[in-house]
Amino acid sequence: MTWDDDDLLRKHPQLERILIRSDEIHKRVRQLGNEISRDYADNVPVLVSILKGSYVFLADLTRCLTIPHEVDFMAISSYHGGTQSTGVVKIEKDLKTNITGRDVLIVEDIVDTGLTISYLLDLLGTRSPRSLRVCTLLDKTHARTKDVAVAYGGFEIPSEFVIGYGLDYDEKFRNLPFIGVMRG
Ligand code: IMP
Repeated sequence: MTWDDDDLLRKHPQLERILIRSDEIHKRVRQLGNEISRDYADNVPVLVSILKGSYVFLADLTRCLTIPHEVDFMAISSYHGGTQSTGVVKIEKDLKTNITGRDVLIVEDIVDTGLTISYLLDLLGTRSPRSLRVCTLLDKTHARTKDVAVAYGGFEIPSEFVIGYGLDYDEKFRNLPFIGVMRG
């Protein structure tokens, strides 16, 4: 059984509103899947999902790809609990795949200050991939402190703390099918 976005919002009084509805997300993920399938038509890219936040996005995105591809996972912590970035990036789990000479597409849930993704780009770049690009569902462009090139971006959003579709607040709300804003 699936729940309606508005029913779910009513069940979570900590949430203020829905920012991006589930049907809008699915439509945009399909578009991104088409673009990536077209751009990598002659390659077998490795999609590197950054845990935990990107697991829902990755699962939907890969099912919209029409080209052969591989997936691998990295776990990184840059947020510890609350809503404040610490700027500290720690690798909790590294890739199994040898990405030397491969076309790598990092799949992120959200790029905020850009610190996490720029750290990852530097790190994976030292492993000599053939290409290295970023796909993020959400992009807080106004919160950037580090410049990063986003090749595939789902939605530009304001600098508000959001949850749902894989994103958490203190490990909760990842299962919500929409992107929502917490009450202040
Ligand atoms: P950055 O290093 O500031 O770009 O932050 C990237 C990471 O911070 C993301 O992968 C998320 O884990 C987390 N993050 C940033 N903004 C939010 C948010 O609004 N909700 C939930 N997590 C967030």
